[in-house]
Amino acid sequence: MNVPKSVVVAVDGTSGSGKSSTCRAVADRVGLRYLDTGAQYRAMTWWMLAAGVDVHDPAAVAARAGEPVLVSGTDPLGPTITVDGRDVSVEIRSDEVNGAVSPVSTVPEVRSRLVALQRELVGAGGIVVEGRDIGSVVWPEAEVKIYLTADPAARAARRALENDTSDVAATQESLLARDKIDSGRAVAPLTMADGAVHIDSTDLTLDEVVELVVGLVMERE
Ligand code: DC
Repeated sequence: MNVPKSVVVAVDGTSGSGKSSTCRAVADRVGLRYLDTGAQYRAMTWWMLAAGVDVHDPAAVAARAGEPVLVSGTDPLGPTITVDGRDVSVEIRSDEVNGAVSPVSTVPEVRSRLVALQRELVGAGGIVVEGRDIGSVVWPEAEVKIYLTADPAARAARRALENDTSDVAATQESLLARDKIDSGRAVAPLTMADGAVHIDSTDLTLDEVVELVVGLVMERE
């Protein structure tokens, strides 16, 4: 497929709206790299918890934000994340990290460190990047910007299936709690970036969303 190798696709949206599956499939289809910035915030949070830092104390989190060495692998078929050389792909999806990642993500020192890391990776172009502030803060010049959402019930049902739990109500509660912090924080809140295309995936299959996004990427040629 003839996609410009420098294209940057920014995909922002709420937890569980299908960002990861969509972004990986789009990157694979059009031959681009893939970056999951949520995994970086999760890895930072995992490290804070492992180091015994009080994640609800912004000053304590800020003081340590420069310490962990995070490395993201950008193959859409097998993305990786390591902290100080340790693969934490599984650990970062734990309930403990789910419950702590939003407060850690509100700390400006955490955000500036990770945004710098993200800009380094995006700089070479040819990448699909997912997060909350990619089109608004990290890479406002992205050629394609998507804002992906879905109804809370649909998001909770999908996430519960992914996490192999039947407790959809608890999953929905956890998603909504994160949405509230992510959208209400002072620094880089989740918002629809200027020039973004809004896709509501509630009644769409993954393939349908992927088709829509691939179509938008191809239009940029
Ligand atoms: O996409 P996710 O659910 O894995 O993201 C986990 C958390 O990381 C989410 O609650 C908010 C935060 N995050 C962020 O603040 N900025 C980003 N660009 C990506 C994620």
